[in-house]
Amino acid sequence: MRTKIVAGNWKMNTLPAEGVELARQIAADRNSVNPDVKLIVCPPFTHLCGVIEALKGTDIEVGAQNCAAEAAGAYTGEVSAAMLAALGCRYVILGHSERRQYYGETSESLRPKMAQAFANNLRPIFCVGENLAEREAGKHLEVVKRQIEEVIFTLTPEEFSKVVIAYEPVWAIGTGKTATADQAQEIHAHIRTILREKFGEVANETTILYGGSCKPANAPELFAKEDVDGGLIGGAALKAPDFLGIVEGFPKK
Ligand code: 13P
Repeated sequence: MRTKIVAGNWKMNTLPAEGVELARQIAADRNSVNPDVKLIVCPPFTHLCGVIEALKGTDIEVGAQNCAAEAAGAYTGEVSAAMLAALGCRYVILGHSERRQYYGETSESLRPKMAQAFANNLRPIFCVGENLAEREAGKHLEVVKRQIEEVIFTLTPEEFSKVVIAYEPVWAIGTGKTATADQAQEIHAHIRTILREKFGEVANETTILYGGSCKPANAPELFAKEDVDGGLIGGAALKAPDFLGIVEGFPKK
């Protein structure tokens, strides 16, 4: 059985005290939702200490939204994977489309970030996804394949076993326009096939999340699909009832 995950990517939202309060609200009602689903919150760097403190004693894990490609040194403004791990982070989002689009991240610059994550026991939530023009040109399968090959194929089998993949079609992020469940399933199955060809049956255990305007209302349809193992949630992760409502979207046993 693959681990089911609902992860919140808070992006650059909330002030530190608001983030701590949001974490507290999520923790307060965590027991009212499916305990088999792993919950992860990824606040901004400035909130990590407070959020980690607020979530102590709960099963909710904390991730960062980025990490440096270097281990330490004269890299003004960067935050290392070692720093994040020392605080108590367990995950790090890498390759989010906003970082690829606005901060010039590429497969090349992501490879050393992945290495830093592994060296510090952080599990990467590695994001892939096509933009609207690529989707309209029918190139989505090819684009995602390339993004996976250029980074994930360079990992050792042991590293690969720690990775969570997030498929986030750029045209669905923050647009209110979600991929249909069939579109998501098509790509998720495609990703799993590519991973299986490279790494073998262990790819059946890889958690593949969907991200892009996922909400309590559309989560059940998405999560009912065979290869959709949960969600990476933006906007709806900023309200505890919505975030937890998404967890309720998994099929009941
Ligand atoms: P939205 O849920 O706001 O569309 O964002 C998705 C996302 O980018 C999560 O990383």
